[in-house]
Amino acid sequence: MTVRVLTGINTTGTLHLGNYCGAIRPCIRASRKEDVESFLFMADLHALIKCQDPSRIELSRMQIAASWLAAGLDPEKVTFYRQSDIPEIPLLNWMFNCVCPKGLMNRAHAYKAMVEANGAQNEDPDNGVSMGLFCYPVLMAADILMFNADFVPVGRDQIQHLEMARDIAARFNNLYGVQENFFVMPYEQIDDELEILPGLDGRKMSKSYNNVIPLFEGGRKALAEAISRVVTDSRLPGEPKDPDSTSLTQIFDAFATHEEREAFRDELRSGLGWGEAKKRLVEQIEAEIGPMREKYTYYTTHTAELEDILQAGAAKARKLSEPFMERLREAVGLRSFRHLSAAGGKAAAPESAPSQKTAEVASFKQYREADGLFYFKLALPGGRVLLTSVGFESGRDAGQTVARLKKTCSLEGLAASVVFGDGVSAQDVEAALAAMKAEDERKAALKAQKNSAG
Ligand code: TRP
Repeated sequence: MTVRVLTGINTTGTLHLGNYCGAIRPCIRASRKEDVESFLFMADLHALIKCQDPSRIELSRMQIAASWLAAGLDPEKVTFYRQSDIPEIPLLNWMFNCVCPKGLMNRAHAYKAMVEANGAQNEDPDNGVSMGLFCYPVLMAADILMFNADFVPVGRDQIQHLEMARDIAARFNNLYGVQENFFVMPYEQIDDELEILPGLDGRKMSKSYNNVIPLFEGGRKALAEAISRVVTDSRLPGEPKDPDSTSLTQIFDAFATHEEREAFRDELRSGLGWGEAKKRLVEQIEAEIGPMREKYTYYTTHTAELEDILQAGAAKARKLSEPFMERLREAVGLRSFRHLSAAGGKAAAPESAPSQKTAEVASFKQYREADGLFYFKLALPGGRVLLTSVGFESGRDAGQTVARLKKTCSLEGLAASVVFGDGVSAQDVEAALAAMKAEDERKAALKAQKNSAG
């Protein structure tokens, strides 16, 4: 079974080596795995929250798209697109705005920090808070849920946003998902092994510390110039040096094999000059980044080609988002008027309104309990619970068990993983599963009929 992994990239500013080692490189490597389906997008609607300079917006998203492609992202394997090219996302954002309690947003860390900072300066609490900023997590939920991602690789600062996305998904499912759950619960994927590259001064490389080494911008010259400013002690060539006295060695490590790392350290211990060591570092980085920079320069000077790649990515994404949005519109009642006139003015959407039969069909719901474990249950529309699962360590395991039940309609091998509802037998559950499957097949057939009828 493949898992769907989705992440958004902020498109403000330009990229540095820390972004490359900590996000771009690991993300591209992960996207090459066989059993993952990757979605990667430029969060350019989010960028408008922070930046109201049109030419910066334009340039930054272009440069960042070019950087990812240059670094080896394969747009055939990954669905690579700009958020703003998918009109279903802002529409879903609105649907979510309408079911998301304001109180949930009041609790968002980023927003709360701004309100507190305003308070500390005796400013109006709303000073500098746009509706875009306030509702940032809702748009992010729409990004993720539009494509029903299972996992979202993000930094720890985004964990709360994922909680909010699940909250919103569950609310929507509860309100509108009488017959089916529209959204699966997405979970953050936090990689504790990720390389945190130190900057020129040894602190984490970050624009806010002004200690960055540019990734592509400015070419080899800018790279060498930045590296010449890496802080070292004042030992002279020939004097033994402590390899761990400077971030130079750690930056070297991020681009070297185990043997190369050891050799570099040995040379420093036996007196390699800092100037020479810096030259070696430039060479070491260039061996990996140099060929990518050529591609980067190509894309940033052939922007029509870049545009075509992103348009193709958007088309691929919309193959999913368009039909899904159709279903969501149906669900909330934004339906075609044709069904109304066919029914003589009475609201009756033939394929969507629950018929007597469909109303009886059970459905799965997945959720997470306070114990941190992942559960699912099978319940009838009226609320009668047929089956509850034991707690699973991961959402993925729970999801796979649900998928297996749906597919096989059998409880074989699952005796230890499920608990029956009051007065419910294994036969009852298997009959309910079979009915669900039959209903799915009926819907698929109806849909195929509708499509072939044009
Ligand atoms: N908020 C994310 C960040 O600051 C960027 C982002 C926007 C995102 N939409 C997303 C990340 C959806 C993951 C999924 O890094």
